Formats: sequence, C-alpha cells, structure tokens
Amino acid sequence: MKETLRYLAGIAGPSGYGSNSTAEQVTEDSSCCVSSSRLTAIITGATSGIGVETARVLAKRGARVVIPARDLRRAAELKEEIQKESPHAEIILLEIDLSSLTSVKRFCTEFLSLELPLNILINNAGIFSQNLEFSEDKIEMTFATNYLGHFLLTEMLVDKMVETADKTGIQGRIINVTSVIHSWVKRDEFSFNQLLNPNNYNGTLSYARSKLANILHVKEMSRHLKARNARVTINAVHPGIVKTGIIRAHKGFITDSLYFIASKLLKSTSQGASTTCYVALSPQLEGVTGKYFEDCNESNCSSLANDESEAQKLLQRTRALIYKQLGQPAA
Ligand SMILES: NC(=O)c1ccc[n+]([C@@H]2O[C@H](COP(=O)([O-])OP(=O)(O)OC[C@H]3O[C@@H](n4cnc5c(N)ncnc54)[C@H](OP(=O)(O)O)[C@@H]3O)[C@@H](O)[C@H]2O)c1
Repeated sequence: MKETLRYLAGIAGPSGYGSNSTAEQVTEDSSCCVSSSRLTAIITGATSGIGVETARVLAKRGARVVIPARDLRRAAELKEEIQKESPHAEIILLEIDLSSLTSVKRFCTEFLSLELPLNILINNAGIFSQNLEFSEDKIEMTFATNYLGHFLLTEMLVDKMVETADKTGIQGRIINVTSVIHSWVKRDEFSFNQLLNPNNYNGTLSYARSKLANILHVKEMSRHLKARNARVTINAVHPGIVKTGIIRAHKGFITDSLYFIASKLLKSTSQGASTTCYVALSPQLEGVTGKYFEDCNESNCSSLANDESEAQKLLQRTRALIYKQLGQPAA
C-alpha cells in the first residue's frame, strides 16, 4: 500500500528520484554527463518504445550509441531523428535478430571487428506473444528473443567490456530490462524444458518466465564477474508500465479501453526509460551489481529470482544449450 502511494505520488526514494522522474532528469547531473561523452553503449530494441528514448537520451549526453536492429530502415529513421536533436551524436547501426543465435553471433563478430570500446550493454529488446511460435533454432520465440539472444550477446561481449574497463578505468555496466511480472512465476512453472518448449502455451506465463530468466542471469553473472575481479557490473531494471509497441499484437477495444482507464497509472516513455538511464549512468551506482531496480531505486525481486541454485542451474544449462546449437565447445 505504502509502495503504491509512493508510486502514484511520484515520491522520490533514496536515490533522489521516483516514478515520475524522466530519463533526461536522471542524467542531468553534470558529473555523469562529463563522463558519458567518453562512453560507448549498445542498446537493443532501440527502434521502438522505451529503447528509443534510452538511445535518444544517452546520445544527447554524448555517448556513442550502437543500435542493433532487425529493421535497419526504422533504425536509420531513428538515427536521423536523434541527430536532428543532437547533431554530433555518433550512432552506429548493425543488423541483428535476437531470436536467432546465428544472427546474434554475426552481430557480435561485426561489432568486435570495429575495434571500438564497450562500456554499456543494455539488453532492452523484448516481445510478448499471444501465440506459440518457434525461433529458427526451434526454441519458443519469447524465451529465444527476450532471454537466449541477450544471454549470448552478453557472453560474446563481456570480455570486450572487461578489457575496456581495464584500459579506461571506467566501470562497465550491463543492464537487463526485465518486468515486475517475473514475480508471477511459481517454482513448479520454471523448468528449463518448459522454457524451451512449453505445453499448454500461455503468452503471459512465457513472457513472465523469460523476464525471471533475465533476472537470474543478472544474479549469476554478477557473481561470475565479481569472482574474476572484473570492473563490470550487471543489474536488472523494471521500467514500469508504459504503453509501447510491446502490446501491438493485442490492440482492440478491450486492451485500448483498459489502457485508457489505467492511463493515470502508466508511465510516459520518458519516465519508462529513466530507471535504465539511471542505472547506466549514475555515479551513485559505482560498484553496485546483481541488484533489481524500479522507479530509479533498488527494489526487491521475487524469492525465486533470488534463488542462487536456480540461477546457477539456469546459467549452466543455457551455456550448454547455446554452445550445442552453435556447434562449439562450451567456454
Ligand atoms: N512497456 C511496458 O509496459 C513494459 C513493462 C515491463 C517491462 N518492459 C520491458 O521493456 C523492454 C522494452 O519494451 P517496450 O515496451 O519498449 O517494447 P516495444 O515498444 O515493443 O519495443 C521492443 C523492441 O524490441 C525489438 N525486438 C523485438 N524482437 C526482436 C528481435 N527478434 N530482434 C531484435 N530486436 C527485437 C523491437 O524491434 P522491432 O522494431 O523490429 O519490432 C523493438 O525495438 C522489453 O524488454 C519489455 O519486456 C516493458
């Protein structure tokens, strides 16, 4: 109840920001702006919704922004829009289909061949599908896109991030954009086989499972990064509820009416991008890793999302699956 009131009133939390804060506000701090002009950030899903605003604000603050997109025409339009506002913004567009492991691998090879530094990786893209579909790797589409693609992206880019952090002395940051809906998943609904090939498909449950997997990835990966003394953090972010393209497959009288009624509870896209931008740039979060954030403040995720053995199991099984699919020995 107290949390709901805090959200509705937009009362600031310990960070000084709250549910009403916008991405521009949380990055206005001059100490963060000075350093962001030396940063390179990859932002997935930056052709729609929250990702567009995240890319716009990071570019405005001077970061070089790399946009991996499956729709390069839309990405080129977005680049033009960003550069109208920030003429000196450096935006690099590369092709990716996150649901395809081969495509993710190709993107990483292409990005690494540019020999750029990498400070920030924002795993933001996401889908919510009402119908059961499979990726080209024969894996349920929501899980393949929201979790597996980002997992491989992180695996293939993390060494570059560690190397950049060592060379520059600037801490690298990985952010997985998740959802509060992760907490709807019960323990007996979270088996690896169900994630890959669910029976009795339920779109909401599949989406929630993929978002739970995004947090478990954060938890286990943060332990691995700490163990290797890497100057790279990884955190999870719930952006809030924002009317974006993620519900585009669900348009209709009922959905539109519900969104209209709930419109006072929804965030604007700029408010939706604020927690990601805060976690990506705020000097307050130097060294903070393995945490879950909402409304620009650290928050609590579900007990399942905090389960260490579940996170360890998921990471091991995911690595084995990915390297088998790609025909490579596990790293
Ligand atoms: N909106 C909310 O209320 C809400 C709430 C909680 C969490 N989230 C999370 O916030 C993140 C951003 O969502 P959003 O609301 O901004 O959604 P959105 O407007 O639908 O944007 C999703 C982005 O993901 C990209 N994408 C989807 N499938 C892809 C694929 N196979 N390969 C590459 N890119 C792909 C889309 O690219 P295309 O332009 O090519 O489609 C688009 O740029 C998601 O992770 C979502 O789960 C959103």
